[in-house]
Amino acid sequence: MAEDRNLMSGNEVNDWETLMFLYGSAIKEINTKIEVLRDEFQFINHYNPIEHVTSRLKSAKSIVRKLQREGHETDLQSMQKYLNDIAGVRIVCSFTSDIYKIADMISNQDDIKVQLIKNYIANPKQNGYKSYHMIVTVPVFTSHGPIDTKVEIQIRTIAMDFWASLEHKIYYKFDGNAPASIKDELVECAHMINELDDRMLALNEQIQALKGKEEEQ
Ligand code: GTP
Ligand code: MG
Repeated sequence: MAEDRNLMSGNEVNDWETLMFLYGSAIKEINTKIEVLRDEFQFINHYNPIEHVTSRLKSAKSIVRKLQREGHETDLQSMQKYLNDIAGVRIVCSFTSDIYKIADMISNQDDIKVQLIKNYIANPKQNGYKSYHMIVTVPVFTSHGPIDTKVEIQIRTIAMDFWASLEHKIYYKFDGNAPASIKDELVECAHMINELDDRMLALNEQIQALKGKEEEQ
């Protein structure tokens, strides 16, 4: 980063490269935190709740498209004000119960500020979409001082992730206007996914209980 760039005006960054550098760094910060939490969880509880983590930085094209779709100016100010998902991290875990544990562990970190929670697990979307979304800020420590940077964190089970990735493909294939029969089928699949998650959780609880008894003996 060039030392003499005038990076900030008030609380806002006024340079595209700097802004994207910040969002990229914020993703790294969150990924490191998740890695440490995963190690700690493994160390204390002897199991790993996280199956995998993916992250992405929204492309310039998608940023512009989203701002236009929502009727905003396509400038750096609007990006910072209106877009919450330029930096995105997705955590995929085994069981529904892990989702809240992970969300708590992240939000309990001192330097993380939770801005917004959308709980599509408690309140699934009409199409059947389920996931736990948190918009947080994490400080990125630059030579100009810390800059709180927004990251969207999505937490879901493997089954929810399976459903969401297929739904996403279908949505784009039909430009959001899939035939009613396909939409209905997707809702039906979402119900099956819910049942699967519930049964896998119950099964895991049985296994844990049996293991607990064995250890007592
Ligand atoms: P955006 O306009 O993309 O922000 O979606 P939204 O306002 O309807 O929902 P929200 O901001 O809570 O979710 C943002 C992100 O969640 C999206 O970019 C997707 O990654 C994911 N998401 C939300 N709804 C759906 C859905 O119905 N299907 C799938 N596959 N993903 C979704
Ligand atoms: Mg949104």
